[in-house]
Amino acid sequence: MNVSQAEKPYVQWQEGQTSRKVLWLSESGYAAPAHIVPVDDQTTADHAYRLACEGNYLLWRGDFQNALQLMQAMNRRIKRTEQRKLSKAARSGKQPAATETATSLFHQQRQAQAQRARTLGRLLLELDAGYICRLRRAPDLSAACEAAFGALDEPCLMSFRDLQGALGAAQWREKGVAITGLDQPIFPHYGVFAPTRHEYVPLMQEAPLPANHDVAFDIGTGTGLLAIILAKRGVGQVVATDSNPRALACAKDNIARTELLEVQLQEVDLFPTGQPLADLIVCNPPWLPAKPSSSLELAVYDPKSRMLRGFLQGVRAHLAPEGEVWLILSDLAEHLQLRTRDQLLAWFAEAKLDVKYRLDTQPKHGRSQDSTDPLHAARSAEVTSLWCLTPA
Ligand SMILES: C[S@@+](CC[C@H](N)C(=O)[O-])C[C@H]1O[C@@H](n2cnc3c(N)ncnc32)[C@H](O)[C@@H]1O
Repeated sequence: MNVSQAEKPYVQWQEGQTSRKVLWLSESGYAAPAHIVPVDDQTTADHAYRLACEGNYLLWRGDFQNALQLMQAMNRRIKRTEQRKLSKAARSGKQPAATETATSLFHQQRQAQAQRARTLGRLLLELDAGYICRLRRAPDLSAACEAAFGALDEPCLMSFRDLQGALGAAQWREKGVAITGLDQPIFPHYGVFAPTRHEYVPLMQEAPLPANHDVAFDIGTGTGLLAIILAKRGVGQVVATDSNPRALACAKDNIARTELLEVQLQEVDLFPTGQPLADLIVCNPPWLPAKPSSSLELAVYDPKSRMLRGFLQGVRAHLAPEGEVWLILSDLAEHLQLRTRDQLLAWFAEAKLDVKYRLDTQPKHGRSQDSTDPLHAARSAEVTSLWCLTPA
Protein backbone atom coordinates (compact mmCIF):
# COMPACT_ATOMS: atom_id res chain seq x y z
CA MET A 1 0.00 0.00 0.00
CA ASN A 2 1.30 3.43 -0.87
CA VAL A 3 0.52 5.37 2.30
CA SER A 4 0.41 8.75 0.61
CA GLN A 5 -2.29 7.58 -1.81
CA ALA A 6 -4.37 5.53 0.55
CA GLU A 7 -7.51 6.62 2.30
CA LYS A 8 -6.10 6.68 5.78
CA PRO A 9 -7.76 4.48 8.39
CA TYR A 10 -7.04 5.26 12.07
CA VAL A 11 -7.12 3.01 15.09
CA GLN A 12 -8.16 4.25 18.54
CA TRP A 13 -7.63 2.57 21.88
CA GLN A 14 -7.30 3.27 25.60
CA GLU A 15 -3.99 2.46 27.29
CA GLY A 16 -4.07 3.10 31.04
CA GLN A 17 -5.34 6.64 31.41
CA THR A 18 -4.31 7.63 27.89
CA SER A 19 -6.51 7.63 24.84
CA ARG A 20 -4.51 6.87 21.70
CA LYS A 21 -5.21 7.29 17.98
CA VAL A 22 -2.72 6.45 15.21
CA LEU A 23 -2.69 5.41 11.57
CA TRP A 24 -3.57 1.75 10.89
CA LEU A 25 -1.45 0.01 8.24
CA SER A 26 -2.56 -3.38 6.97
CA GLU A 27 -1.19 -4.93 3.80
CA SER A 28 -3.78 -7.71 4.04
CA GLY A 29 -6.54 -5.12 4.05
CA TYR A 30 -7.79 -6.03 7.54
CA ALA A 31 -10.12 -3.46 9.13
CA ALA A 32 -8.71 -1.33 11.97
CA PRO A 33 -8.78 -3.38 15.19
CA ALA A 34 -11.70 -2.91 17.56
CA HIS A 35 -10.18 -4.58 20.66
CA ILE A 36 -6.57 -3.86 21.57
CA VAL A 37 -4.87 -5.48 24.54
CA PRO A 38 -1.34 -4.33 25.50
CA VAL A 39 0.99 -7.35 26.02
CA ASP A 40 4.67 -7.65 26.92
CA ASP A 41 7.47 -10.00 27.94
CA GLN A 42 5.40 -11.27 30.88
CA THR A 43 2.62 -12.53 28.60
CA THR A 44 2.81 -16.28 28.03
CA ALA A 45 2.46 -17.74 24.54
CA ASP A 46 -0.64 -19.69 25.65
CA HIS A 47 -2.31 -16.55 26.93
CA ALA A 48 -1.38 -14.53 23.82
CA TYR A 49 -2.65 -17.31 21.57
CA ARG A 50 -5.94 -17.50 23.48
CA LEU A 51 -6.41 -13.71 23.32
CA ALA A 52 -5.76 -13.73 19.56
CA CYS A 53 -8.15 -16.64 18.99
CA GLU A 54 -10.81 -14.69 20.88
CA GLY A 55 -10.48 -11.87 18.35
CA ASN A 56 -8.29 -9.45 20.33
CA TYR A 57 -5.39 -7.54 18.83
CA LEU A 58 -2.24 -7.67 20.94
CA LEU A 59 -0.15 -4.53 21.07
CA TRP A 60 3.41 -5.51 21.90
CA ARG A 61 5.11 -3.34 24.54
CA GLY A 62 8.06 -5.61 25.37
CA ASP A 63 11.39 -6.48 23.81
CA PHE A 64 11.40 -6.59 19.97
CA GLN A 65 13.22 -9.93 19.68
CA ASN A 66 10.90 -11.53 22.26
CA ALA A 67 7.93 -10.56 20.06
CA LEU A 68 9.45 -12.56 17.19
CA GLN A 69 9.81 -15.55 19.51
CA LEU A 70 6.23 -15.12 20.65
CA MET A 71 5.09 -15.25 17.03
CA GLN A 72 6.95 -18.51 16.51
CA ALA A 73 5.38 -19.94 19.67
CA MET A 74 1.92 -18.86 18.51
CA ASN A 75 2.57 -20.42 15.12
CA ARG A 76 3.44 -23.74 16.77
CA ARG A 77 0.14 -23.61 18.69
CA ILE A 78 -1.78 -22.89 15.49
CA LYS A 79 -0.16 -25.87 13.77
CA ARG A 80 -0.93 -28.13 16.75
CA THR A 81 -4.58 -27.03 16.66
CA GLU A 82 -4.75 -27.67 12.90
CA GLN A 83 -3.20 -31.10 13.41
CA ARG A 84 -5.66 -31.96 16.20
CA LYS A 85 -8.60 -30.94 13.98
CA LEU A 86 -7.33 -33.13 11.15
CA SER A 87 -6.82 -36.16 13.42
CA LYS A 88 -10.25 -35.67 15.01
CA ALA A 89 -11.90 -35.46 11.60
CA ALA A 90 -10.03 -38.58 10.46
CA ARG A 91 -11.07 -40.47 13.67
CA SER A 92 -14.71 -39.44 13.31
CA GLY A 93 -14.62 -40.72 9.74
CA LYS A 94 -16.00 -37.37 8.52
CA GLN A 95 -13.07 -36.60 6.29
CA PRO A 96 -11.18 -39.72 5.33
CA ALA A 97 -8.02 -38.17 3.94
CA ALA A 98 -7.54 -40.86 1.27
CA THR A 99 -10.85 -40.08 -0.44
CA GLU A 100 -10.51 -36.30 -0.19
CA THR A 101 -10.50 -34.65 -3.60
CA ALA A 102 -7.50 -32.54 -4.50
CA THR A 103 -9.81 -29.54 -4.90
CA SER A 104 -11.26 -29.73 -1.42
CA LEU A 105 -7.79 -30.34 0.08
CA PHE A 106 -6.55 -27.26 -1.78
CA HIS A 107 -9.41 -25.12 -0.44
CA GLN A 108 -8.94 -26.48 3.09
CA GLN A 109 -5.24 -25.71 2.94
CA ARG A 110 -5.90 -22.15 1.78
CA GLN A 111 -8.52 -21.62 4.49
CA ALA A 112 -6.08 -22.86 7.13
CA GLN A 113 -3.38 -20.53 5.74
CA ALA A 114 -5.79 -17.57 5.81
CA GLN A 115 -6.82 -18.39 9.39
CA ARG A 116 -3.16 -18.69 10.44
CA ALA A 117 -2.40 -15.34 8.79
CA ARG A 118 -5.33 -13.71 10.61
CA THR A 119 -4.31 -15.08 14.01
CA LEU A 120 -0.62 -14.21 13.64
CA GLY A 121 -1.61 -10.83 12.18
CA ARG A 122 -3.10 -9.90 15.54
CA LEU A 123 0.27 -9.23 17.14
CA LEU A 124 0.91 -5.52 16.57
CA LEU A 125 3.65 -2.99 17.08
CA GLU A 126 3.56 0.78 17.17
CA LEU A 127 6.06 2.75 15.12
CA ASP A 128 6.86 6.45 15.20
CA ALA A 129 6.95 8.64 12.10
CA GLY A 130 9.55 7.32 9.63
CA TYR A 131 8.92 3.77 10.94
CA ILE A 132 11.10 4.35 14.01
CA CYS A 133 10.68 1.54 16.50
CA ARG A 134 11.16 2.38 20.20
CA LEU A 135 11.07 -1.21 21.45
CA ARG A 136 14.15 -2.66 23.19
CA ARG A 137 16.53 -4.56 20.86
CA ALA A 138 14.67 -3.34 17.76
CA PRO A 139 16.72 -3.18 14.55
CA ASP A 140 16.47 -0.19 12.22
CA LEU A 141 13.24 -0.84 10.33
CA SER A 142 12.96 2.44 8.45
CA ALA A 143 14.58 1.55 5.13
CA ALA A 144 12.76 -1.79 4.75
CA CYS A 145 9.38 -0.30 5.70
CA GLU A 146 9.79 2.74 3.51
CA ALA A 147 10.75 0.55 0.54
CA ALA A 148 7.71 -1.67 1.13
CA PHE A 149 5.01 0.74 2.26
CA GLY A 150 6.19 4.21 1.15
CA ALA A 151 7.34 7.20 3.19
CA LEU A 152 5.43 7.83 6.42
CA ASP A 153 5.43 11.05 8.42
CA GLU A 154 3.21 10.00 11.33
CA PRO A 155 3.07 7.17 13.87
CA CYS A 156 1.32 3.94 12.90
CA LEU A 157 0.22 0.57 14.15
CA MET A 158 0.93 -2.51 12.02
CA SER A 159 1.24 -6.24 12.49
CA PHE A 160 4.57 -7.94 13.11
CA ARG A 161 3.57 -10.21 10.24
CA ASP A 162 3.45 -7.35 7.74
CA LEU A 163 6.70 -6.07 9.19
CA GLN A 164 8.33 -9.47 8.66
CA GLY A 165 7.14 -9.38 5.03
CA ALA A 166 8.86 -6.02 4.56
CA LEU A 167 12.08 -7.24 6.22
CA GLY A 168 12.14 -10.42 4.10
CA ALA A 169 11.55 -8.41 0.91
CA ALA A 170 14.35 -6.02 1.82
CA GLN A 171 16.76 -8.97 1.92
CA TRP A 172 15.65 -10.25 -1.50
CA ARG A 173 15.91 -6.75 -2.86
CA GLU A 174 19.44 -6.43 -1.59
CA LYS A 175 20.87 -9.81 -2.54
CA GLY A 176 18.71 -10.56 -5.61
CA VAL A 177 17.61 -13.91 -7.07
CA ALA A 178 20.10 -15.77 -9.27
CA ILE A 179 18.37 -16.90 -12.47
CA THR A 180 19.68 -19.94 -14.35
CA GLY A 181 20.97 -18.83 -17.74
CA LEU A 182 20.86 -15.09 -16.95
CA ASP A 183 24.17 -13.36 -16.39
CA GLN A 184 22.84 -11.18 -13.57
CA PRO A 185 20.46 -11.57 -10.65
CA ILE A 186 16.93 -10.18 -10.60
CA PHE A 187 16.02 -7.93 -7.65
CA PRO A 188 12.39 -8.38 -6.55
CA HIS A 189 10.62 -5.62 -4.62
CA TYR A 190 8.04 -6.02 -1.86
CA GLY A 191 4.67 -7.15 -3.24
CA VAL A 192 6.09 -8.22 -6.62
CA PHE A 193 6.22 -11.84 -7.84
CA ALA A 194 9.72 -13.05 -6.95
CA PRO A 195 10.96 -15.56 -9.55
CA THR A 196 12.51 -17.83 -6.91
CA ARG A 197 11.02 -20.78 -8.81
CA HIS A 198 11.77 -20.05 -12.42
CA GLU A 199 11.77 -23.39 -14.19
CA TYR A 200 10.10 -21.62 -17.14
CA VAL A 201 13.18 -19.47 -17.86
CA PRO A 202 15.04 -22.18 -19.87
CA LEU A 203 11.85 -22.60 -21.96
CA MET A 204 11.94 -18.86 -22.72
CA GLN A 205 15.57 -19.20 -23.74
CA GLU A 206 15.10 -22.36 -25.85
CA ALA A 207 11.97 -21.39 -27.80
CA PRO A 208 12.99 -20.27 -31.31
CA LEU A 209 12.24 -16.59 -31.86
CA PRO A 210 9.81 -15.91 -34.72
CA ALA A 211 11.58 -14.87 -37.93
CA ASN A 212 10.42 -11.29 -37.40
CA HIS A 213 11.16 -10.17 -33.86
CA ASP A 214 11.29 -6.42 -34.00
CA VAL A 215 8.54 -5.83 -31.42
CA ALA A 216 7.55 -8.00 -28.44
CA PHE A 217 5.16 -7.45 -25.51
CA ASP A 218 5.58 -8.96 -22.05
CA ILE A 219 2.14 -8.91 -20.40
CA GLY A 220 2.30 -8.99 -16.57
CA THR A 221 6.03 -8.35 -16.38
CA GLY A 222 6.49 -8.50 -12.57
CA THR A 223 10.21 -7.98 -11.96
CA GLY A 224 10.79 -7.48 -15.70
CA LEU A 225 12.46 -10.90 -16.00
CA LEU A 226 10.88 -12.06 -19.28
CA ALA A 227 11.21 -8.62 -20.89
CA ILE A 228 14.92 -8.65 -20.04
CA ILE A 229 15.35 -12.15 -21.51
CA LEU A 230 13.63 -11.05 -24.74
CA ALA A 231 15.78 -7.92 -25.03
CA LYS A 232 18.93 -9.97 -24.34
CA ARG A 233 17.87 -12.46 -27.04
CA GLY A 234 17.85 -9.62 -29.55
CA VAL A 235 14.24 -8.44 -29.81
CA GLY A 236 14.41 -4.88 -31.15
CA GLN A 237 11.75 -3.28 -28.96
CA VAL A 238 10.08 -4.79 -25.87
CA VAL A 239 7.01 -3.25 -24.25
CA ALA A 240 6.31 -4.67 -20.79
CA THR A 241 3.07 -4.09 -18.88
CA ASP A 242 1.71 -4.77 -15.42
CA SER A 243 -1.34 -3.62 -13.49
CA ASN A 244 0.62 -3.52 -10.21
CA PRO A 245 2.50 -0.22 -9.75
CA ARG A 246 5.02 -1.95 -7.49
CA ALA A 247 5.85 -4.35 -10.34
CA LEU A 248 6.45 -1.45 -12.72
CA ALA A 249 8.82 0.23 -10.25
CA CYS A 250 10.61 -3.09 -9.75
CA ALA A 251 10.88 -3.83 -13.47
CA LYS A 252 12.22 -0.31 -14.03
CA ASP A 253 14.90 -0.94 -11.41
CA ASN A 254 15.92 -4.31 -12.92
CA ILE A 255 15.93 -3.00 -16.47
CA ALA A 256 18.07 -0.03 -15.41
CA ARG A 257 20.64 -2.48 -13.98
CA THR A 258 20.89 -4.25 -17.37
CA GLU A 259 21.46 -1.04 -19.32
CA LEU A 260 19.08 -2.42 -21.96
CA LEU A 261 17.51 0.53 -23.69
CA GLU A 262 14.98 -1.49 -25.68
CA VAL A 263 12.42 -2.02 -22.89
CA GLN A 264 9.49 0.32 -22.28
CA LEU A 265 7.03 -0.02 -19.40
CA GLN A 266 3.31 0.68 -19.15
CA GLU A 267 0.98 0.41 -16.15
CA VAL A 268 -2.18 -0.98 -17.77
CA ASP A 269 -4.66 -3.80 -17.54
CA LEU A 270 -3.16 -6.39 -19.92
CA PHE A 271 -2.13 -4.86 -23.28
CA PRO A 272 -0.07 -1.72 -23.95
CA THR A 273 -1.61 1.20 -25.78
CA GLY A 274 -0.23 3.21 -28.69
CA GLN A 275 2.04 0.42 -29.95
CA PRO A 276 2.45 -1.28 -33.32
CA LEU A 277 1.30 -4.90 -33.69
CA ALA A 278 3.74 -7.23 -31.95
CA ASP A 279 5.70 -10.07 -33.55
CA LEU A 280 5.78 -11.88 -30.22
CA ILE A 281 3.57 -11.57 -27.12
CA VAL A 282 4.61 -13.43 -23.97
CA CYS A 283 2.60 -13.85 -20.80
CA ASN A 284 3.18 -15.80 -17.60
CA PRO A 285 -0.17 -15.19 -15.88
CA PRO A 286 -1.10 -16.09 -12.30
CA TRP A 287 -1.64 -19.85 -12.61
CA LEU A 288 -4.33 -20.78 -10.10
CA PRO A 289 -7.96 -19.82 -10.70
CA ALA A 290 -8.90 -18.89 -7.12
CA LYS A 291 -9.59 -15.77 -5.10
CA PRO A 292 -6.47 -14.09 -3.70
CA SER A 293 -6.69 -13.44 0.04
CA SER A 294 -4.72 -10.19 -0.28
CA SER A 295 -3.30 -7.99 -3.03
CA LEU A 296 0.08 -9.69 -2.42
CA GLU A 297 -1.36 -12.91 -3.91
CA LEU A 298 -2.54 -11.36 -7.20
CA ALA A 299 0.50 -12.74 -9.02
CA VAL A 300 -0.44 -16.35 -8.17
CA TYR A 301 -4.25 -16.44 -7.95
CA ASP A 302 -6.41 -15.36 -10.88
CA PRO A 303 -10.08 -15.30 -9.83
CA LYS A 304 -12.23 -17.04 -12.46
CA SER A 305 -9.15 -17.04 -14.76
CA ARG A 306 -9.88 -13.38 -15.51
CA MET A 307 -6.35 -12.50 -16.60
CA LEU A 308 -5.73 -15.72 -18.55
CA ARG A 309 -9.03 -15.46 -20.43
CA GLY A 310 -8.71 -11.70 -20.95
CA PHE A 311 -5.23 -12.25 -22.33
CA LEU A 312 -6.35 -15.00 -24.73
CA GLN A 313 -9.43 -13.11 -25.86
CA GLY A 314 -7.52 -9.88 -26.54
CA VAL A 315 -4.16 -11.09 -27.79
CA ARG A 316 -4.93 -11.46 -31.50
CA ALA A 317 -5.91 -7.80 -31.79
CA HIS A 318 -2.33 -6.89 -30.78
CA LEU A 319 -0.49 -9.55 -32.78
CA ALA A 320 1.04 -9.21 -36.25
CA PRO A 321 -0.42 -11.74 -38.79
CA GLU A 322 2.76 -13.87 -38.68
CA GLY A 323 3.23 -13.29 -34.96
CA GLU A 324 3.50 -15.79 -32.08
CA VAL A 325 2.09 -15.91 -28.57
CA TRP A 326 4.15 -17.60 -25.85
CA LEU A 327 1.90 -18.47 -22.95
CA ILE A 328 3.67 -19.84 -19.90
CA LEU A 329 1.32 -21.87 -17.76
CA SER A 330 1.60 -24.49 -15.07
CA ASP A 331 -0.95 -27.31 -15.15
CA LEU A 332 -1.23 -27.44 -11.34
CA ALA A 333 -4.77 -26.07 -11.68
CA GLU A 334 -5.62 -29.14 -13.76
CA HIS A 335 -4.23 -31.54 -11.11
CA LEU A 336 -6.28 -29.68 -8.49
CA GLN A 337 -9.36 -30.00 -10.73
CA LEU A 338 -9.76 -26.22 -10.84
CA ARG A 339 -9.52 -26.22 -14.64
CA THR A 340 -9.44 -28.95 -17.30
CA ARG A 341 -7.11 -29.31 -20.24
CA ASP A 342 -10.16 -29.38 -22.55
CA GLN A 343 -11.27 -26.03 -21.12
CA LEU A 344 -7.86 -24.50 -21.82
CA LEU A 345 -7.82 -25.86 -25.38
CA ALA A 346 -11.36 -24.55 -25.91
CA TRP A 347 -10.23 -21.07 -24.79
CA PHE A 348 -7.39 -21.23 -27.37
CA ALA A 349 -9.91 -22.22 -30.07
CA GLU A 350 -12.38 -19.45 -29.04
CA ALA A 351 -9.52 -16.96 -29.31
CA LYS A 352 -8.78 -18.34 -32.82
CA LEU A 353 -5.31 -19.51 -31.82
CA ASP A 354 -3.64 -22.72 -32.97
CA VAL A 355 -1.01 -24.57 -30.94
CA LYS A 356 2.21 -24.47 -33.00
CA TYR A 357 4.27 -26.36 -30.39
CA ARG A 358 4.63 -26.79 -26.66
CA LEU A 359 7.76 -26.98 -24.48
CA ASP A 360 7.39 -28.64 -21.07
CA THR A 361 9.37 -28.68 -17.87
CA GLN A 362 8.84 -30.16 -14.42
CA PRO A 363 9.31 -27.91 -11.40
CA LYS A 364 11.93 -29.03 -8.88
CA HIS A 365 11.13 -26.54 -6.11
CA GLY A 366 10.90 -27.66 -2.49
CA ARG A 367 7.12 -27.99 -2.30
CA SER A 368 6.97 -30.33 -5.30
CA GLN A 369 9.34 -32.70 -3.45
CA ASP A 370 7.62 -32.55 -0.04
CA SER A 371 5.83 -35.89 0.39
CA THR A 372 4.22 -34.74 3.68
CA ASP A 373 2.27 -32.02 1.83
CA PRO A 374 -1.38 -33.15 1.50
CA LEU A 375 -1.26 -31.83 -2.08
CA HIS A 376 1.92 -33.76 -2.90
CA ALA A 377 0.27 -35.89 -5.61
CA ALA A 378 -0.84 -32.76 -7.51
CA ARG A 379 2.36 -30.80 -6.90
CA SER A 380 4.69 -33.64 -7.90
CA ALA A 381 2.77 -34.16 -11.16
CA GLU A 382 2.89 -30.45 -12.10
CA VAL A 383 4.24 -29.54 -15.55
CA THR A 384 4.95 -25.98 -16.64
CA SER A 385 4.60 -25.37 -20.36
CA LEU A 386 5.45 -22.72 -22.88
CA TRP A 387 2.55 -22.87 -25.35
CA CYS A 388 3.49 -21.34 -28.68
CA LEU A 389 0.22 -20.15 -30.22
CA THR A 390 -0.32 -18.66 -33.67
CA PRO A 391 -3.34 -17.07 -35.39
CA ALA A 392 -5.65 -19.81 -36.72
C1 LIG B 1 3.06 -15.00 -12.28
S1 LIG B 1 3.45 -13.29 -12.27
C2 LIG B 1 4.66 -13.28 -13.60
C3 LIG B 1 5.69 -12.19 -13.49
C4 LIG B 1 6.78 -12.25 -14.54
N1 LIG B 1 6.29 -12.15 -15.89
C5 LIG B 1 7.61 -13.50 -14.41
O1 LIG B 1 7.49 -14.39 -15.25
O2 LIG B 1 8.38 -13.61 -13.44
C6 LIG B 1 2.01 -12.54 -13.01
C7 LIG B 1 2.09 -11.04 -13.18
O3 LIG B 1 0.90 -10.60 -13.85
C8 LIG B 1 0.51 -9.34 -13.30
N2 LIG B 1 -0.91 -9.14 -13.60
C9 LIG B 1 -1.99 -9.73 -13.04
N3 LIG B 1 -3.11 -9.30 -13.63
C10 LIG B 1 -2.74 -8.41 -14.60
C11 LIG B 1 -3.44 -7.63 -15.56
N4 LIG B 1 -4.76 -7.70 -15.65
N5 LIG B 1 -2.73 -6.82 -16.39
C12 LIG B 1 -1.38 -6.76 -16.31
N6 LIG B 1 -0.67 -7.49 -15.42
C13 LIG B 1 -1.33 -8.30 -14.59
C14 LIG B 1 0.82 -9.49 -11.82
O4 LIG B 1 0.90 -8.22 -11.19
C15 LIG B 1 2.16 -10.23 -11.88
O5 LIG B 1 3.23 -9.33 -11.93
